[in-house]
Amino acid sequence: MTTPTPLIAGNWKMNGLASSLAEAKAVAEGVGTTSVRVGICPPSLLIHRMTEALAGTKVLVGGQDAHTDDTGAFTGDISAEMLADAGAKLVILGHSERRDAYRESDALVAKKVLAALRHGLEPIICVGESLEQRKAGQALEVVTAQVRGSLPAELKGKAFAVAYEPIWAIGTGLTPNNPQIEEIHGAIRETLTAMFGEDADKAPILYGGSVKPSNAAEILHAREVGGALVGGASLKAEDFLAIIRAV
Ligand code: 13P
Repeated sequence: MTTPTPLIAGNWKMNGLASSLAEAKAVAEGVGTTSVRVGICPPSLLIHRMTEALAGTKVLVGGQDAHTDDTGAFTGDISAEMLADAGAKLVILGHSERRDAYRESDALVAKKVLAALRHGLEPIICVGESLEQRKAGQALEVVTAQVRGSLPAELKGKAFAVAYEPIWAIGTGLTPNNPQIEEIHGAIRETLTAMFGEDADKAPILYGGSVKPSNAAEILHAREVGGALVGGASLKAEDFLAIIRAV
């Protein structure tokens, strides 16, 4: 069994202006030569400038979404090819905010993953249950079905990550306890092994949802937690660095 290299990725969501590049540079300076993989996914307009600002550092830059197609009449959309062209190495796909606001289905997310693979981007594929689903005892079933439906067979042998982000923990300050996280991460790992065999052992399973400096060490030491996808706390270099150092 190969242990995945931990990945700590920041999802800036719709936050960040040119002036925020200083925060990304402070992260790059602070991480130095850590063995942890570190990524920042800023709004798409900052991707190119951020890759230039962080050239030669350990910090990878990523997108927050990509279209299924490479080009075409899709007003307002951005393709995986464009992200790669701008210097991105990672891309978040199937975030619950997009599954909700833009009705993204598992099948659509799987097509986006194919687009990412066509252009050499490492996808971070998000899954997670709602509060109603958790209360109804459906969390495991919902999450494993999302993994099966959102990860195409073509991922076999490729670099990718899965992020478990319970919707009720995002931006709320609430987090599942470690046994709850371990139950879901264990089930995701079993599903990945069933789908891709040992090839998937290298894929980290990230936890996301209200990760902050004060809870990072506890969460990151839970079984099968291979890193974190961090929202709000990734906007400040000091907080994001404290989370990276908690690995
Ligand atoms: P918060 O860390 O702000 O809860 O956001 C989590 C998230 O959605 C990361 O993708």
